[in-house]
Amino acid sequence: MNVKITHCASYLPKTILTNKDLTTMVDTTEEWIVKRTGIKSRYIADPSETVLDLAINAVDSLKGEAIDALIVATYSAEERMPNIASKILNKLNMPKVPAFDINVACSGFVYGLSIAKTYIDSGKFERVMVVGVDKNSKHIDWTDRNTCCLFGDGAGVVIVSKTDDNKVFDFDLGCDCEFSDDLKTEKNAFGDEYLDMNGKKVFKLAVNYGEKLVKNAIDTLNGNLPDYIIFHQANKRIIDSIVSDFDIPKDKISYALEHQGNTSAASIPLALDLAIKESSIKPGDKILMIAFGAGFSWGSVLLEY
Ligand code: UT7
Repeated sequence: MNVKITHCASYLPKTILTNKDLTTMVDTTEEWIVKRTGIKSRYIADPSETVLDLAINAVDSLKGEAIDALIVATYSAEERMPNIASKILNKLNMPKVPAFDINVACSGFVYGLSIAKTYIDSGKFERVMVVGVDKNSKHIDWTDRNTCCLFGDGAGVVIVSKTDDNKVFDFDLGCDCEFSDDLKTEKNAFGDEYLDMNGKKVFKLAVNYGEKLVKNAIDTLNGNLPDYIIFHQANKRIIDSIVSDFDIPKDKISYALEHQGNTSAASIPLALDLAIKESSIKPGDKILMIAFGAGFSWGSVLLEY
């Protein structure tokens, strides 16, 4: 079956946390954060704004669209059950379709796209909604300068639809479980879960897998470069290090992280929505999305917009 992304929307919370703000919270400088990460500011949800609220705000404009299934990628749902997906359907009075969450941390959205494609290939579904949402701020130790400067909150959503047009769609997924302890949440004495990361190890893994996944995509495109690449928005130096091996113009790469930070499962759909709104992507473009995260999970989707 041929599929394409027919709809895209996103939501960012109102509060902007700048690097300057962070200098009043931890021992850091604006220069260090920009130089080592490329991030200048990020959006932070209100304490009362839940992961479900973020997702609902993103999905709201698409709630009237016909869908056959809903997949929500998140690691930060407030409750173990019921899942966020069923709550979105209920709150927005959407059709009573199969709805479930997946947790592949920052790689979740790309995994969700691969499931959507496989469902449509099965012939059972024609339109699958995929949401990526995370409220990282709830799982950040705001006294830990190693992590608190990196993350933000947000949500993004697409609808993947069956099409009669001949369209490229390929995916590549994996899990290097040997490194699962290098990025995780840890419980403190009060039972709250905080993000714990071996930044250097994750950086290297991300660059290694990123390079392989770009090479695979170029092979799939018979030696041609994708028209636009959206990497998981974790660190500008990771992105630049991956693309340094390839001759890819900077305007063909998303740097949404500059004003969004790392929004985990939301980072790729947020960057996609931004690229569409800024007209960086046009119909027919071959878009490569590359994600990595806890697990150590990695994955890519190459699709024609
Ligand atoms: O979606 C999750 C995926 N996560 C990632 O992709 C993160 C991958 N890792 C990274 O992006 C980078 O490793 C970090 C941004 C987390 C850290 O950058 P780095 O260049 O690897 O710094 P480092 O950990 O090697 O630390 C260098 C120095 C250290 O000081 P000393 O020991 O050399 O004196 C750190 O304590 O920078 C210090 N440092 C800071 N200084 C100012 C660490 N964080 C900060 C900070 N402000 N916020």
